[in-house]
Amino acid sequence: MHVAKRLEQFKAYLGTEMNVRLTRMREEGRDVINLGLGDPDVTPPPHLLSALQDAVGDPGHHHYPSFYSNRPLKEAIAGWYGRRFGVDLDPTTEVIPLLGSSEGLFVIHLCLLDVGDTALVPDPSYPSYEAGVKLAGGLVEPVPLLRKNGFLPDLDSIPSDIAKRARMIWVNYPNNPTAAVATPDFYMKLIEWARAHDVVVVHDNPYSEITFDMYRTPSFLQFPGAKEVGVEFHSLSKSYNCCGWRTGMLVGNADIVAGLAKVMSHSNRGMYYPMQVASATALNGPVDFMEKRNQTYKERRDVVVQGLRDVGLTVDTPKATFYVWSPVPKGVTSQDFCFKVLDAINVWMIPGSMYGKYGEGYYRIALTHPANRLAEAMKRLKDFMG
Ligand SMILES: Cc1ncc(COP(=O)(O)O)c(C=O)c1O
Repeated sequence: MHVAKRLEQFKAYLGTEMNVRLTRMREEGRDVINLGLGDPDVTPPPHLLSALQDAVGDPGHHHYPSFYSNRPLKEAIAGWYGRRFGVDLDPTTEVIPLLGSSEGLFVIHLCLLDVGDTALVPDPSYPSYEAGVKLAGGLVEPVPLLRKNGFLPDLDSIPSDIAKRARMIWVNYPNNPTAAVATPDFYMKLIEWARAHDVVVVHDNPYSEITFDMYRTPSFLQFPGAKEVGVEFHSLSKSYNCCGWRTGMLVGNADIVAGLAKVMSHSNRGMYYPMQVASATALNGPVDFMEKRNQTYKERRDVVVQGLRDVGLTVDTPKATFYVWSPVPKGVTSQDFCFKVLDAINVWMIPGSMYGKYGEGYYRIALTHPANRLAEAMKRLKDFMG
């Protein structure tokens, strides 16, 4: 059987292989704590479950969804962006719903890159950016995210010949995996830089509603000139505790939105109508549950940050996301450290090197377990590290 060589260019999503291994360990009776999983243990609020149930019960809702229609989801997305970020979007031309933001962010490269074109990809970063560039036959130019720069790309250090060649840059704040956040100054500089070099900005913002300590995440699109240079992916997965629903969006520059809509008109043919109804109900509805949910994540964050500090690791306290990005102990690689910890104490954390070369020296912990379970993981880590 001949399969395309293109598939050799990128790896499968990193969770898949590990999940098989962790399942096997559980079957062997080991009490595994999987701190790798970026899927919240919290559930969607009850009004969203009933909205979905009611919409599924309507016999008229089981046809092909109309791909280009506005109602109800595109309008709900535009309304939410207006209320939440003060961003004005035309629901017809500047919004496209997606079956989770992942499907769009993986294939957007087909709309922005021709074979051999360069994409600037942060390192470390969410693995689908790099995989998607390679799927489209593009070339990845890594942009290091370093602690000394607050894990923001240093735009001034991108050589001018690379900036000139680049067609697009990926940017993601609040950031996975580093949990860093970006300042308004950074976004303004990014827009100016993108305009000067004619580079499309693709901003990924799925963690905007998971914030702590009064921090409020902006949208890239709320800064002047953003819509001329780029787009933003967003998602209901983390905001509304519904990763399994597969509902997200791309918004912003109308030409790019039209390009992705053209690709999607062949591939997904639109979102299941009951899911559109339930997603619209979420975006149009109350958000008070988020405050309590974020308080829960904050308590978990504090357990983990304190636990890591107790074993002598210098960890920043994240203002957003449900991740903690911790340095590994001196003298060991992130991969060695995480696999030793898994074997010895049945706790899985993701080695930073799985997110790119500059992720080496770190590992990522997801706060997707109750505080007592995280405390148990920290206790095991303390015993392990002596
Ligand atoms: C940075 C980032 N972008 C996108 C996604 C995908 O989100 P969705 O569930 O909308 O596909 C994730 C999921 O973990 C993520 O961490």
